[in-house]
Amino acid sequence: MTERLTAQNGAPIADDQNSLSAGARGGLMLQDWQLIEKLAHFNRERIPERVVHAKGSGAYGTFTLNKDLSDYTIADHFQGVGKQTEVFLRFSTVGGESGSADAERDPRGFAVRFYTANGNHDIVGNNTPTFFLRDGIKFPDFIHTQKRNPKTNMKDAQAMWDFWSLNPEALHQITILMSDRGIPATYRHMNGYGSHTFSLWNAKGERFWVKFHFKTKQGIKNLSNEQADKIKGIDPDHAQRDLFASIEDGDFPQWAVNVQIMPEADAERYHINPFDLTKVWPHKDYPLIEIGTLELNRNPENYFNEVEQAALAPSNLVPGVGASPDKMLQARLFAYADAQRYRIGANYNQLPVNCPHASKPNHYQRAGAMAGVGCPFHGSAAGSDSSVNYGPNTQQGPAQQPQVAEPPMDLAGAMDRYDKTVEDDYAQAGDLFRLMNGEQQQALFDTIASTLGQASMDIQEKMLEHFRQADVAYAAGVKAALEQR
Ligand code: NDP
Ligand code: HEM
Repeated sequence: MTERLTAQNGAPIADDQNSLSAGARGGLMLQDWQLIEKLAHFNRERIPERVVHAKGSGAYGTFTLNKDLSDYTIADHFQGVGKQTEVFLRFSTVGGESGSADAERDPRGFAVRFYTANGNHDIVGNNTPTFFLRDGIKFPDFIHTQKRNPKTNMKDAQAMWDFWSLNPEALHQITILMSDRGIPATYRHMNGYGSHTFSLWNAKGERFWVKFHFKTKQGIKNLSNEQADKIKGIDPDHAQRDLFASIEDGDFPQWAVNVQIMPEADAERYHINPFDLTKVWPHKDYPLIEIGTLELNRNPENYFNEVEQAALAPSNLVPGVGASPDKMLQARLFAYADAQRYRIGANYNQLPVNCPHASKPNHYQRAGAMAGVGCPFHGSAAGSDSSVNYGPNTQQGPAQQPQVAEPPMDLAGAMDRYDKTVEDDYAQAGDLFRLMNGEQQQALFDTIASTLGQASMDIQEKMLEHFRQADVAYAAGVKAALEQR
C-alpha cells in the first residue's frame, strides 16, 4: 500500500495537482497554503555552491590497514593490522560551477574522510602531490584568475598566465596540470595525494612529518584534449556516471594507501623546505611505505544530503594526526569550516554525512540554526537535550582528555612577512619534464601553447623564461609550439 501524501505538518493532502482558485478560470487564493508551501520550499532548494570544487561526486567505503603505525601515531585508524574504518570520499574538479563538465583540464579534488573511533579525520587533497602556491594569502587572487572574468563572464587565459608568469612557484604544478595527467579519464583512474606535510605523533610524544599518497589500483588512465572535448559535449557528467555505475555494478574501486615519513629533526637539515607545498619529497629520499587499502563500495542514497552537504575540512584532525608549519595548510585550517558555516549553516556537523559516525560528539556548543537535527548514529544531537551547557561543571558533564594532548612543537623566529622567492621554483618542474618521454613532452608543449597563445606577447616571453629555467628543452618546445599556432 502506498503511504499517504501529506504537507510538511503531516496533514493529509486531498489534491496535489490543482491549486485553489476563485472559479474554474479565476485567480488563486492566498489561503492555498499547500501551494505556498510547495513554491516557497522550492525557492529554497539550493544552497550556495562551494566557492571552489563545486562539481563533484562522492561515495562511501572502507579503509583497511595492513601495516600497524603505532610506532608513529596513536591515531585509532592506524592501529593494528586488519583494522577497518568507514570512509567517505568526494572527488571534484576545481574551477567549474556545479553544472560544469567533468572532463575539464583541472586538478581533481580527492577529499577523504575517515570516520574513526576518535573522531573524523579528513585528508582534503588533490590528484596532484603539489599546488600552485606556497602561501594561502595568494589563494583568492589565484582563484579569481581561474574563474570567470568579472566583465566578460568568460574564462580568461590572459589573467591565468599573467598571474602564473608573476608567480613562478606555480611552475611545478602547471607542468603537472598541462601534462598527460591533467585530464584523468575518470575519478577511478587517478592517484590522490594529501599533498601537504602533516604530522603524526606517537604514545612516547615523538613527532614525525608525513605525506599521504593514494595510488589507484585501476591504473592511471587519461584523456587527450581531443577525447575530452568530445566527452564534454556528449556527457558532461561522465566521471559521476562512471563512479556511480561501477559501485552499483559491484566493481569497487581501490587505492593503495602509502605514506612518506620524515623524523621531526630531519626537517631542519633537509635540502628542501619540507613544508613547501610546491615541492614533493623525492621518493629516493623518503620512499613510499604502503599501509593499507581504500575501497569505495557504497553509493550515497541522496546526492544533495550526502555529497552537496558534505563538509570536509583539513581542520578535522584526530589525536595522533596534526598539522605542520606549511603556510598553505595553516590558511586552510581556517578556511573550510568558515566556508561551511556560511554554505550550510552553523550546525552542519549534525548532518549524517558530517557527524562523527564512530565517536559520540559531546561538547558544550549549543543552539544556532537547525540545532537538534542530531547525529543518527548516536541518538540525540549533542546539546539537543537539557544537559549542562557549560564547562567545567560539577554535574558530570563531558570532561577533557589530557592523555590525547599533542606534544609541543618548537617554533622560532621573528614575526615578519617573509619573502618566499628565495625558494627554488624550477628544479622539480624540470625533474618532472625530464621524466616524460618525447611524445609526452610534445603533448605538454601543445597543451601549454593552446592557452598561452591567447595571452599577450610580454606574458608569453615571461613564461618562456620560466620554462627555460626549468629546462632549456622545455622552453624551446613551448616556443616552437607557439610559433606553429
Ligand atoms: P620518481 O621517479 O621516484 O617518481 C616519479 C613520480 O612521478 C611517480 O610517482 C609517478 O607516478 C609520477 N608521475 C609520472 N608522470 C607524472 C605526471 N605527468 N604528473 C604527475 N606525476 C607523474 O621521482 P621523484 O620522487 O624524484 O620525483 C620526480 C618528479 O615526479 C617530481 O618532481 C614530481 O613532479 C613527480 N612526482 C613525485 C612524487 C613524489 O612524491 N616524489 C609524486 C608524484 C609525482 P606513478 O608511480 O603513479 O606512475
Ligand atoms: C574546497 C579554500 C587550497 C583541495 C575548498 C573550499 C574552500 C577552499 C573555501 C570549499 C569548502 C566547502 O565549502 O566545503 C582553500 C584555500 C586554500 C585551498 C583558502 C589555500 C590556502 C587547497 C589545496 C588543496 C585543496 C592546496 C589540495 C591539496 C580542496 C578540495 C576541496 C576544496 C578537494 C573540495 C572538498 C570537498 O570535496 O568537499 N577549498 N583551498 N584546496 N579544496 Fe581548497
